[in-house]
Amino acid sequence: MEITDVTPSTQLESEFGMIQAHYDLSDEFFTLFLDPTMTYSCAKFSSPQSTLAEAQVAKMDLSLGKCELKNGHRLLDVGCGWGGTSLRAHDHHGVDVVGLTLSKNQHEHCQSLAKGKSGLDFRLQGWETFTEKVDRIVSIGAFEHFGEAKHAAFFERCRSILPEDGVMLLHTITLGKPSRSFSFGRFVHFLSVKIFPGSYLPPAPERVIEMARSNGFEPVHVESLRLDYARTCDCWAENLKARQVRAIEIAGEKIYKNYIRYLTECALFFRSGESNIHQFKLRVA
Ligand SMILES: C[S@@+](CC[C@H](N)C(=O)[O-])C[C@H]1O[C@@H](n2cnc3c(N)ncnc32)[C@H](O)[C@@H]1O
Repeated sequence: MEITDVTPSTQLESEFGMIQAHYDLSDEFFTLFLDPTMTYSCAKFSSPQSTLAEAQVAKMDLSLGKCELKNGHRLLDVGCGWGGTSLRAHDHHGVDVVGLTLSKNQHEHCQSLAKGKSGLDFRLQGWETFTEKVDRIVSIGAFEHFGEAKHAAFFERCRSILPEDGVMLLHTITLGKPSRSFSFGRFVHFLSVKIFPGSYLPPAPERVIEMARSNGFEPVHVESLRLDYARTCDCWAENLKARQVRAIEIAGEKIYKNYIRYLTECALFFRSGESNIHQFKLRVA
């Protein structure tokens, strides 16, 4: 099956449309390069021998550990992807979880993970319409999609649904060291046209902290995982190259080449420091 290229068009103007243009390309295509949990965010490699699969579980536990979860808590996972972190939180950290995604394919996959389990609830819904009370929030790799105009509203919404002792772990790509290089600018443009339609430059970490502080949160811990993201992208690119034939059968040569460029150059710019990735542990102020 040939899949058409991802280019901005009126059809993609809605936010659901922009998200689905990327994440609903084909689940099988993503299985060719992600780990078995289909986690699509920076992993945490604890040693040079760690595999991608081990490092993804380590990242989930690192993030969930920062949330100070207690048995019976209700956790909101904003941008749950294919459900790996939500499932880990439910099965290994003893909490009820609501996971939100805008992708139809991801939602379908998540529902199959939740079959027969109580307290694991996946919804095809944006945070913008979610107003239920929760005890903790985790959001990994989704803030990148919200757009600057919505950042303050995101923090406000999260603050309004958390209790006085609430904690949120926000994991997001951030702007690295100032760059005027032509290659970085060209790459950002390529991403916004070919890979993540409508994407834009991420905010500097200082800006994320400033917005969190102005909207009811106290940042209590900030950690960069920059070199872990470079290694994650290396693993993804290697996996995809190793399955080139099937990738081209599923998505066509143009998309395969675009993904190799996307994953390879992401690794390069995380290594150069022009891109960064941070985990912000935020306590209700
Ligand atoms: C890069 S994926 C990360 C998925 C997952 N957290 C992980 O680590 O694998 C980004 C996720 O954010 C979700 N997303 C984007 N905008 C959203 C919004 N406004 N509300 C809820 N989820 C959103 C997408 O549907 C997708 O599931």
